[in-house]
Amino acid sequence: MTDQTQQWIEKDKKQLHPVYHPKSHANPLVIERGEGVWLYTTDGRKILDGMAGLWNVNAGYGREELAKAAYDQMKTLAFTSNFSGMTNLPSIQLADKLAGFAYAGLNTTMFTSGGSEANDSAFKTARYYWKRKGKPTKYKVIARKGAYHGVTLSATFATGLEKYHTMFGPAAEGFVHIPAPNPYRYEGQLQDGETVGQAAARELESAILREGADTVAAFIAEPVMGVGGVVIPPDDYFPLVRQICDKYGVLFIADEVITGFGRTGEWFALKHWNVKPDILSFAKAITSGYAQLGGIQISDEIRETMESAPESEAYMHGYTYSGHAMACAVGLKNLEIMEKEEYPKRARELGKRLLEGLQSLTEFPFVGDVRGLGLVCGVEIVSDKSTKAADPATTMKIFKAAEANGLRSRPLGNTLAFSPPLSINEDEVDEIVKRLGAAMDGIS
Ligand SMILES: Cc1ncc(COP(=O)(O)O)c(C=O)c1O
Repeated sequence: MTDQTQQWIEKDKKQLHPVYHPKSHANPLVIERGEGVWLYTTDGRKILDGMAGLWNVNAGYGREELAKAAYDQMKTLAFTSNFSGMTNLPSIQLADKLAGFAYAGLNTTMFTSGGSEANDSAFKTARYYWKRKGKPTKYKVIARKGAYHGVTLSATFATGLEKYHTMFGPAAEGFVHIPAPNPYRYEGQLQDGETVGQAAARELESAILREGADTVAAFIAEPVMGVGGVVIPPDDYFPLVRQICDKYGVLFIADEVITGFGRTGEWFALKHWNVKPDILSFAKAITSGYAQLGGIQISDEIRETMESAPESEAYMHGYTYSGHAMACAVGLKNLEIMEKEEYPKRARELGKRLLEGLQSLTEFPFVGDVRGLGLVCGVEIVSDKSTKAADPATTMKIFKAAEANGLRSRPLGNTLAFSPPLSINEDEVDEIVKRLGAAMDGIS
């Protein structure tokens, strides 16, 4: 490591990083520049970013068009308040572009700065909707164990990973967790002849009945669970979830913060199962990480319920940066790039290549499961394939060895996640597999 890099690392101690512990941040990579799928550190290392930042840099690094969109908009008008009584052109154009883009019937967008705010907005909107409907007791949210929904107080407790709760209790009230439809290690009970999808959907119905349908506002799910270990649901799960939500009058919130904008091979992931949510949370890839932007889309029914409210029941929610002019301009340009470069198609084709490559690594005794949908894949590491005993220590060793080989992945418990830029090419996909294989060779 160069002296200069050492000095940067010393100075870096003046900021607190997300999910921070001094030990985990002792020796960070200091990134200076990015180009395509490659990151360059201040001490001259070149690293293949197999995670597209945090599942978001879909268009890859160093895109002139996005930089220019930000520059032009900042020069013209960086920001206006979008509180009622004012608006700006990029937010109008982006909301118009997004109307019906993800799912038919979701034509209204509320912008935020990221995914946690989007989910917070989704929960508040669900509560608002039920109050307007004359059902104020419907406030609870059912989520899944292993889910990650962000770090605002409500998103923290919608998240189904206990380590995010431990130091921040008491818990926000009204969040209930049920087992996720994990085909490799389902943690609920399977009844005779039941599939994992059926059993996990049954848990939703049981939770609604247990809590009382008159208390449940919404169910939230990531179509493909990300931070919880890249969990791809069985095909029967989401159609059953939709039926159950309809049966009991529960809004279905799809958290597509990771899966939105092409990542899984469809523009939005519930399309794989022909299912439509009532509220959609998005963020991340809307700008490919070039500006901070997220939001929710709501169904026409929710919108109409809002429209008919008396003034005393106004939707008193929104952020300084809702509809930020520069961020929306970047979002518009990024959508143009993603459409032109056919990212869902690329994710399907290159995702197949990546998945097949990663599956070739199951010959290692510690590779228990390899799964993927489009360009999001998980490699689960176990100490014994027959018992499927999780092995986070070996996972961390492989992660570090891969990083030393110039490949960035993400260790999530005992799963290594891969979610590279959708601009990746065939050779770079093969490079991920080669570098990971070399890392596994080195530790076995
Ligand atoms: C599924 C999901 N929802 C919400 C979030 C929170 O988004 P943000 O970090 O932009 O607040 C994330 C972040 O990784 C996520 O993966």
